[in-house]
Amino acid sequence: MTERDGCRVWNMKWRRRRMVGGGLALAAGLATGLAPGARAEDPSEMPPQPGDRLVFLTGPKKGTAIKPDDLPLGGPQAQAYPASPEGVLREGSRLNLLIVARFDPAQLAPETLARATDGVVAYSGVCTHQACPVNAWSDEQKMAVCSCHGSTYDLRDGAKLVFGPAPHALAALPLKRADDVLVVADKFTRHVGGEMM
Ligand code: FES
Repeated sequence: MTERDGCRVWNMKWRRRRMVGGGLALAAGLATGLAPGARAEDPSEMPPQPGDRLVFLTGPKKGTAIKPDDLPLGGPQAQAYPASPEGVLREGSRLNLLIVARFDPAQLAPETLARATDGVVAYSGVCTHQACPVNAWSDEQKMAVCSCHGSTYDLRDGAKLVFGPAPHALAALPLKRADDVLVVADKFTRHVGGEMM
């Protein structure tokens, strides 16, 4: 099977999944990382930092800090961005797209539970295959799905890959809770983005 044939099969399989946020328009820009001319020290372009709050990217609470109870138990994931303690939204890099979801803590793998707060887990929302947004959800599997070629990630177990062409798990972002909202506890556990980045 050629690579193109493989992608066609994956596309057919994921088409039944539902979308949870920003669509393919976002995907085109994800491959670029920093905006043209971006300065690494610009706080809006820095990766998530310990102490940052997570805010909704989409939906009725867009732009507000996320509380654990804002998220439906058992998924789907919500899309988010980190914001600095000073209120700077770190949207200058598309690699800062995050996904967050809430589960029964008893369903989380030990390593995932250690990074979660109140059952909420956070990961990079950028697929490790070709950097599309992981913005679809499988009700059947209770897993997050990439909207391009169907890579499927188990958010309850370190976002490990269970299906599709992506080479490895999503980067995890350890969380804690402060003032009732989700706050970044540590940096990403690994490189963020697609294979070619
Ligand atoms: S970019 Fe190909 S599966 Fe995500």
